[in-house]
Parts: sequence; C-alpha cells; structure tokens
Amino acid sequence: MSMGSIHSSNSAQADYWNGAGGRRWADNQDRQDALLQPISDRLIAAADPRPGEFVIDIGCGSGATTIDLAVRVAPEGEALGLDVSAPLLRRARERAPDDIPARFVHADATVYELPPGEIDLIASRFGVMFFADPTQSFANLRAGMKPRGRLAFACWRAARDNPWLIVPLRAAAGHAPPLPELGPEDPGPFAFADETRVRRILGDAGFVEIDLMREDFELDVALGQGVDAAVEAALSLGPASRMLEDQPEATREAAAVDIRAALAAHAVGDSVPLGAAVWIVTARNPS
Ligand SMILES: C[S@@+](CC[C@H](N)C(=O)[O-])C[C@H]1O[C@@H](n2cnc3c(N)ncnc32)[C@H](O)[C@@H]1O
Repeated sequence: MSMGSIHSSNSAQADYWNGAGGRRWADNQDRQDALLQPISDRLIAAADPRPGEFVIDIGCGSGATTIDLAVRVAPEGEALGLDVSAPLLRRARERAPDDIPARFVHADATVYELPPGEIDLIASRFGVMFFADPTQSFANLRAGMKPRGRLAFACWRAARDNPWLIVPLRAAAGHAPPLPELGPEDPGPFAFADETRVRRILGDAGFVEIDLMREDFELDVALGQGVDAAVEAALSLGPASRMLEDQPEATREAAAVDIRAALAAHAVGDSVPLGAAVWIVTARNPS
C-alpha cells in the first residue's frame, strides 16, 4: 500500500500500530466498536457533521467513526480517514460500504499535506494522543481547515479515572514487568488527560474557543456475554493486554485467572459495567 511520509519522531508509534497494536485492534474491531459506541455517539453529537461537509477522521483505525461521519455528510460531502496503520486501514476499506463517501489514506497526521483551507471538520475518536509533537501535528492539521472550521475529538482522562482499563491492569500486575513509565509529554493513551496541557497544545497550534467537556460512561466490558468475555476483552485490548502481549502462555493464563477474579467482583448478571472517563474536546480555527 502506498503511504505518505512518517515523521521520524512518530516512527515508534507507527511501528507499534503496524505491528502488535494494530493487529490486536484489527482483530477485535467488532468488540471494540460495540464497546466504544456510547463515546462515539457523544463525539459525533459534539462534532455535528452536516451534509456536504469535508471531514477528516484522524487516527481513524478500522474506520468506525469515518463511516459514521461519511453517512452524515453524504451525498455531496466526504469523510477522509487518515492513519499510520496499514492493518487497520485494510480493515477500514474492507468494511466501508461502497455507497458512502468514505476514503482512507495511509499517512502521518503530523506531516500529511491537506489541501489548504478546505476542511470543515476534523474529528477523532482516541486517535490524537500518539503524536510525538502534538503542537506541530495540530498546527499541520489546522492549515487544512476552513476559517471557523471545527475540531472535535475524544481522549481519555487520567488512568485512575478509567477503571475499565485499570482493573484488569492492576490484576495482571506482578505477572509481567510493568509497562514503561511515561513522562507528562510522552505520547500514549493518557497523554491528553491533563486539561491544561490540552489547552496549551491547541492554543499553541492556533486553535480558539477551546472547550473540554468532562464525560463519564459506564462501559459493559463483557458486552452482555459474561465474565469470560470480559477477560478475553482485557487480554485483547488496553494496557493489561499490552503488558502481557510478549509473555509466555503460562504467564498469560495465570494473569487471566487474577483478571477474571477482579472483573467478576464487578459483574451484574452477564454484564461487567466499569467506569470510563473521557474528555470531549472542541475548538475552532480562527476566522
Ligand atoms: C487508539 S487507536 C484509535 C483508532 C480509532 N480511532 C478507533 O477509535 O477505533 C489510535 C489510532 O491512531 C493512529 N495513529 C497514531 N499516530 C498517528 C499519526 N501520527 N497519524 C495518524 N494516525 C496515527 C493509530 O495507528 C491508531 O489507529
């Protein structure tokens, strides 16, 4: 697949999303999309895509939000999903219906040259926290926006406020070396947890009317299929899966026993509802 250039500072993330990380997300796309649907709904409401608009979905992964956006801007508009991950883009292209205006490009948001001044809306579901230099990345994206163009994205608040990710991770601790400690400016799933940092990055990138809405969700990590399904999900996605991904099978099985016990403590029938804390961030390109 042809692709645009990847900024050297993003090469580690590009490797991860073209390797183990991308494969796991692609293999678990159905489950992941079902789980994240309530957050998508909230994001789409804040983004407010309208028929005829040109919309970009940053870090589109396997394309769920791009497809949703394309349906809303059809028939005259277009939704362009942009991602560094070949396996996820392959999945996105496979599943996007032919009759909606969705297109996908293999590119790094930090350096991809968008047509200047044409984009109405830039949206992202958890795809903007992985840039080594987020200010440069957002400034690059803003250059493609129309005057008063809108930005809307979802990002995680602090890890401690996201039990759906932290309960399995804590249960798996001790079975494998801990994940590398990330500094406050390092890319990663929680890189945009700090409101002050998000405001600084977007302000420095030239955005105005920056707003962070605190949204809390209860995600059924079992998707109504019982505790074993929740364990499978924890071993496939999120920080516990990342910690255990290169471990021998015996270690993964031992960790799974502890993860199961931790998740079972939260079970309500066949569901395992756990809290998820998100920022819905909106901003505008100045006029
Ligand atoms: C947590 S996943 C979210 C995927 C998708 N938005 C979803 O919600 O299913 C993060 C995505 O950001 C992409 N990504 C990371 N760095 C990127 C960059 N510099 N440019 C474009 N995409 C990037 C990854 O390849 C990955 O698909």
